[in-house]
Amino acid sequence: MFNLSAPVASSQQLPHKNLPRKLSLYMGTNYRNSIPKYARDEFKRFTRVLDNNNTKIILDSGCGTGESSIHLAKINPHCLVVAVDKSAKRMRRCNTDTADSGNVMYVRCDLIHFWRLLQRAQFRLYKHYLLYPNPWPKPGHLQRRWHAHPVFPAVIDLGGELVMRTNWSVYAQEFAFALRSYIKTPVTVTELKIENAISAFEKKYSGSGHILYQVKANLPHD
Ligand SMILES: C[S@@+](CC[C@H](N)C(=O)[O-])C[C@H]1O[C@@H](n2cnc3c(N)ncnc32)[C@H](O)[C@@H]1O
Repeated sequence: MFNLSAPVASSQQLPHKNLPRKLSLYMGTNYRNSIPKYARDEFKRFTRVLDNNNTKIILDSGCGTGESSIHLAKINPHCLVVAVDKSAKRMRRCNTDTADSGNVMYVRCDLIHFWRLLQRAQFRLYKHYLLYPNPWPKPGHLQRRWHAHPVFPAVIDLGGELVMRTNWSVYAQEFAFALRSYIKTPVTVTELKIENAISAFEKKYSGSGHILYQVKANLPHD
């Protein structure tokens, strides 16, 4: 069971007025963060698995306790699901005790580093899930939302079918706006009707009666 959760509360009711400026600042740029050794080591471990596993990659970014990763692995048996989260505590609660199993591989890493490493190595994803990212609802936290972060161009470069779900309509609107600014292909925003929740937060939010939104786009491969 879970405790009922309150909908996102924010003084921001509309897409942030500074978002277009942030996007034009980062468009076409590479975020040059310094990547720590632990992240490079995790990436090496990931590429070693791939050497023996020449399959399509589904990235579950911010997988939390990993229910969605297991679900995605079951319905995509021909793919490798790479489940990434920075929280060791959340990942320890994965059903599989974080041991890589079947077609799921768990990676404990900050996404800011992992996305950059994938981008640098010119990986192209088959699908990319960003389920219920932290909303950072304070207007002053705009840059912490993924679509307004300088690493977002790396997410675009990774390609594939990108799916983002959130319980905050403003986040969905901003995310879709950011995608449309970066790519020419269609971006859809839909309200979800959840029958079988695929992640822990989806279960919690749908069980609490929140409206859930999905933003989806096929990112172009160059
Ligand atoms: C609200 S939870 C959603 C978890 C899961 N996707 C779900 O739907 O149940 C957000 C997750 O993103 C992870 N996260 C936030 N920022 C991250 C970052 N920079 N790198 C990796 N994981 C991050 C958190 O640790 C947390 O597990």
